[in-house]
Amino acid sequence: MTDFEMIKEIKRLKIEKNAIILAHNYQVSEVQDIADFVGDSFGLSKIAYESKATTIVFCGVHFMAESAKILSPEKKVLLPVKKAGCPMADMITGESIRNFKADNHGVPVVCYVNTSAEVKAESDICCTSSNAVNVVNSLDSDRILFVPDQNLGNYVARQVPEKEIILFRGFCIVHHRVEIEEVDEIRRKLPDVRILAHPECQPEVLEKSDFVGSTSQILKEAKKSSDMEFIIGTEIGMLHVLQKENPEKKFHILSLALVCENMKKTSLKDVYEAIKGDKYEMTLDESLRIRAKKSLERMLEIKE
Ligand code: 13P
Ligand code: SF4
Repeated sequence: MTDFEMIKEIKRLKIEKNAIILAHNYQVSEVQDIADFVGDSFGLSKIAYESKATTIVFCGVHFMAESAKILSPEKKVLLPVKKAGCPMADMITGESIRNFKADNHGVPVVCYVNTSAEVKAESDICCTSSNAVNVVNSLDSDRILFVPDQNLGNYVARQVPEKEIILFRGFCIVHHRVEIEEVDEIRRKLPDVRILAHPECQPEVLEKSDFVGSTSQILKEAKKSSDMEFIIGTEIGMLHVLQKENPEKKFHILSLALVCENMKKTSLKDVYEAIKGDKYEMTLDESLRIRAKKSLERMLEIKE
């Protein structure tokens, strides 16, 4: 089957199965191009929730499809590649939060959306990279445990110095790879070009960046700015969506190491097989789902 025939079949099956295709900003370009919506992790889960479609093909990693299922239990949520996971999400378990809580009575736990349902269920409130500061500010407590990303947690701690943020030592294996020498080198080459970076990068990298935000905030910033050139400090897949939405502007990647192997596992053929054979359906224990949903709902009550 050629790509052209596959795309035609995917479009036909979407109508037959009342399905929509969602793709994260880091997906390969041919997957982004076949998707109905391209966006950030939690934004896509909200689209899945609001959609009238009964099947959601979620092209991303496991925790993203799982978050969509937490919010929309009545919908069939498919993750085309079973082994597309997030190493950072795998760095923490529900058990480690239970242990922390036993030793630190009353200290609230904020979990990044890049976590399993079990971790969400044990946490008090969830956050995304766009609302983490607001979420932390919304809590009464002066001490907060932030899991699992130490870099996002550190970034939040700097914005909210009046609170003690206890950091879990997890990290994104992709963003954490960016080295300060790479920032200095690209600065030398392109001294007048602003760096837009994701808060999963290390603190020294963020300190030298001009703008810090989630994938959707980076996209918004590049669109509204009058600058014609940018250096992008997040996963390389972002360059496709940035270029597509800003054809007149130029984008450079901060580091060639910014490739998430898990995000690159989903091909056009996987999307075709997923929609054709209902692969791979997300399932969740109902009591776990309800507990995990509470931390997401609490986050949704916070003003962005
Ligand atoms: P966003 O929520 O900003 O899309 O980021 C998801 C992610 O996996 C970042 O590495
Ligand atoms: Fe996980 Fe990092 Fe990949 Fe995002 S880029 S899915 S945080 S490993």
